[in-house]
Order: sequence, then C-alpha cells, then structure tokens
Amino acid sequence: MKAEESKFSIFSKRKTADTDPAELKIPTHLAVIMDGNGRWAKKRMLPRSAGHRAGADNLKTLCKNCGHYGIKYVTVYAFSTENWSRPESEVHTLMELFVEYFDRYDPELEAEGIRVRFTGDIASLPQNIREVCKRAEEGSKHRDRMTLIVAFNYGGRREIVQAAQKLAEKVASGEIRSEDITEDLFAQHLYLPDVPDPDLIIRPSGEERTSNFLVWEGAYSELWFSDVLWPDFGMKELTDALIAYTKRDRRFGGLSKEKKDEE
Ligand code: IPE
Ligand code: IPE
Ligand code: MG
Repeated sequence: MKAEESKFSIFSKRKTADTDPAELKIPTHLAVIMDGNGRWAKKRMLPRSAGHRAGADNLKTLCKNCGHYGIKYVTVYAFSTENWSRPESEVHTLMELFVEYFDRYDPELEAEGIRVRFTGDIASLPQNIREVCKRAEEGSKHRDRMTLIVAFNYGGRREIVQAAQKLAEKVASGEIRSEDITEDLFAQHLYLPDVPDPDLIIRPSGEERTSNFLVWEGAYSELWFSDVLWPDFGMKELTDALIAYTKRDRRFGGLSKEKKDEE
C-alpha cells in the first residue's frame, strides 16, 4: 500500500493530468485530426473496425480533458470527403459508429455541459445520419460549457467551393456585387461562420499533414504533431500540446511583442 502511495505521488509531480490550466495559455478553439485507428488495431492484431471503436471511445476522454483545461471549442475530424474511397465495409462501420455514438454518449456529454455541432457536407449524407445530426444539435443547444464540433463528410476544399457557390448565386440574383466579396464576407459563407478560427491543430499518428482539414480557418493555426496513435491520445499528450502552444509566438505576419516594444 505504502509503495503504491509513493508511486502515485511521484506521478502527480509530473506535468501531466494535473497541470494547472492557469500555468498554460489555453486555446479558445482546439482542432484534432483523429488519425491512427487502423494502425492501433493492426498493432493488436485486431480488425480496423476495433480501432475505429477505440477511437470513438477516446473522443469522450478528449472532451473530458479539454473540459479540465476550459477549452471552449473542440473540432474533431471524424470522416473526410476523401474517406469515401475506403472499402465499402469500412465506410459502413464508420457510419454505424457515428449513428451509435451520440445516443450512447449523450448523457455523458450532457453531464459535461457539451453542446454538439457538425461541420461538413451534411446535406449530402444519408437521411438517418442527417437525423442524428439534427437530434444531437437540437438536444444540446442549451449547453454552454464547451462546444464539440464534429467534422463529418468534411473537406476544406469542398467547404470553400460551397461558399463560392453561395456567393455566386447572390451575385447572379443581384443581391451583392462581385466587388463586395471580401475575406470577411467569404468567411461568413463557410459552414460555421460564428465559430472562431482554430488556434491549435493537433494531429496524432505520426503523419505531418492536414489532409484537407480546415483549409480556410486553419490559415494561421499553430500545428502540433505526435507519434501517438489517436486511440492512445490522452491527457499527457494533450498537456504536452498545450505546453508547446504556450511557448509559441503567434505573429500573424506582424512582429512579436518583444520586437514591437524595442521600437
Ligand atoms: C482515422 O484513422 C479514422 C478515419 C480516417 C476515419 P485511420 O483509419 O486513418 O487510421 P490509420 O491512418 O489507417 O492508422
Ligand atoms: C484524415 O485522416 C481524416 C480523418 C482523421 C477523419 P486520413 O487517414 O484519411 O488521412 P491521410 O489519408 O493519411 O492523409
Ligand atoms: Mg489515417
């Protein structure tokens, strides 16, 4: 018993789960590319579907951990417009998991005060999926501790094309002139215009690319990569990402604060 207690106290001194949010710069909006489910399953000689299930379970953990740090918006990449090119059986598993997820975990999302929203080409999805989205959004509208945004059938390029189509229709109908189109007006025609741009985008699994995620919104996001596979991505990894983010100097094309002060 004693040995265990002392082991635990060594653990609690590590800068991990119990890092005080006050010691860190906390992003308003964190985005995560949930990648590596297939490799996680392969390492365990399990089917890819088991990896997707473990990945979906880990989203619950991410929400809890982000709640600990007081992050307001968390966007997760769950299914890309390119993921349709996977074998039909895998696509089917991912759709099934999606349908299951929000009913199964809603009480936990409710307990954490999490509002759920979706981003992506939702209108092109099968009706049962659209209904899940509607139910989850409607049922969680009043929650305000954190917003979980699930990117499903999402592609950054498709989002930009669809915004351009909406603007082209407005020009054609005479509602606006082409010269009225500014960056601000364009951004208002993206999927979730009221959500601030992501401050930090995290990708586990060792890949260092953004794979068509938040192409417009992520123009000035900080990027952080980890070799850990998504189902294993826990509090330690999130904390490491936040520690790295705290040290970043976000200049947005300008000068860092110290440089400005020297002038
Ligand atoms: C991410 O895991 C889940 C989706 C893309 C839907 P992957 O299925 O891409 O896992 P890896 O990259 O093959 O390990
Ligand atoms: C990105 O992962 C999409 C999601 C995690 C939903 P992919 O596994 O599809 O990306 P690539 O193919 O490695 O670029
Ligand atoms: Mg992958």
